[in-house]
Amino acid sequence: MARRIYIFDTTLRDGEQSPGASMNVQEKLEIAHQLERLGVDVIEAGFPISSPGDFQAVQEVSRIVKNATVCGLTRAVSKDVEVAAEALKGAVRPRIHTGLGVSDNHLQYKLRMTREQALERGVSAVKVARKYVDDVEYFLEDSGRADPDYLCKVIEEVIKAGATVINIPDTTGYTMPEEYGARIRMVVNRVPNIDKATVSVHCHNDLGMAVANSLAGVMNGATQVECTINGIGERAGNTSLEEVVMAMKTRSDFFDVQTGIVTQEIYNTSRMVSSLTGILVQPNKAIVGANAFAHSSGIHQDGVLKDRTTYEIIDPKDVGIPESKILLTARSGRHALHHRLMELGFLLNENQVDKVYERFLQVADQKKMVYDEDLEAIVADETSAVHVSYQMMHVQVSCGDHSIPTATVQLKDQDGNVYIDSDHGTGPVDAIYRAINRIVKAENDLIEFSIQNVTAGIDALAEVTIRIKQGNDIYTGRAADTDVCVASAKSYMHALNKLMDRMVHASQKETLEHV
Ligand code: KIV
Ligand code: ZN
Repeated sequence: MARRIYIFDTTLRDGEQSPGASMNVQEKLEIAHQLERLGVDVIEAGFPISSPGDFQAVQEVSRIVKNATVCGLTRAVSKDVEVAAEALKGAVRPRIHTGLGVSDNHLQYKLRMTREQALERGVSAVKVARKYVDDVEYFLEDSGRADPDYLCKVIEEVIKAGATVINIPDTTGYTMPEEYGARIRMVVNRVPNIDKATVSVHCHNDLGMAVANSLAGVMNGATQVECTINGIGERAGNTSLEEVVMAMKTRSDFFDVQTGIVTQEIYNTSRMVSSLTGILVQPNKAIVGANAFAHSSGIHQDGVLKDRTTYEIIDPKDVGIPESKILLTARSGRHALHHRLMELGFLLNENQVDKVYERFLQVADQKKMVYDEDLEAIVADETSAVHVSYQMMHVQVSCGDHSIPTATVQLKDQDGNVYIDSDHGTGPVDAIYRAINRIVKAENDLIEFSIQNVTAGIDALAEVTIRIKQGNDIYTGRAADTDVCVASAKSYMHALNKLMDRMVHASQKETLEHV
């Protein structure tokens, strides 16, 4: 049977210590509700003596949480412990988390205490806490840099005083996984009464080792992991809950452990914490980043479409993300494009897919990402059923505030004849339309011209829609391109081809009538 690892979430306490992450009581309650849905074992709701807001948050979270243990942080000071006990009164499972520094650095520079004084202070805080609650966690701040003998001594004494959980934090994110793991192993092997307490790991990410260190702790006997959603926390943050949990789940063959986390709630929780704290998740963040299940290289896309497991070790649904994303870029292959077109409901024949793919590559060369809206515009452009009398080959314009807008166009007719002509106009589009008119001699009036960007951003496709009139008949033209002038020229050609189609049919009808 796999060993059970308890997940202690400190998003509302250590996480909230991230610069700019402070949340009001209502927001903390929302997160606490979600943490229960996520299935964490312990919710550290705040540091009650630090502010009236923190006190209220711990009090309210204690009131609403039904299954998880609710924990309040204190310094190893009687007053802190009493205030925390008061805030936790309504909790079904209250825990007081008290403690003090153990490294010589913290003793000398921060606490200005001897080792003996600090030990005495810690033992006494645990005894006070035990008067109020049965569950007392003791943190040995800066354990990562502490003298091993002193560390073990303090642990033994606080357990004797009644501590039920021993937290061995790498407060400064100083250790390497092998070192931190060895430290946990040493505590488990050397402290005689350690079997009376749960060993907890609490790691910071200053050297990017928080998750690796926590896992090393688990491998070496820890049974509780302290972490935050999205890894938020002091400085470089804490162990990220989603990463540590998914590592243990995905590699259960390696760790042989299990947690009570409902992993399908991970993504929702991450989104909620990001939006309430205003701390954005980096796109390449493991598990919950926007690109964590997105594939952009053509080779990867082809593999994932054949079988997801070729490039994905986690099913996105297992963390609450509905599906992997195929990002359409210049590196995407025809297979990925066709797949997306079918998902969008376009059932194209091979020939049409080829034409769309050719256009797609041109657009993708100019834009980093090709979105669904771009594809819709391309498909509309390339699969139009209008008979093409003239095809646009090239358009070139010269314009600006000191020049006369001039355009040169090159068109090809249905028999393969190529025509080039130029003209000037009041603006670049007028010049283009005049140049086209010199080749395609089909009288008409432009009665409407509108331009719209298809997606957001400066590199978006521009969609130009125009209406031209000849007699009583109106013809609409529509085309999209990253270049507004090209889109304008193409939309005019689209409308003109419709007009000429009609003219040809009308003259055929006339001929038949005359025969
Ligand atoms: O990092 C740390 O040492 C802490 C303690 C207060 C538990 O957050
Ligand atoms: Zn911490």
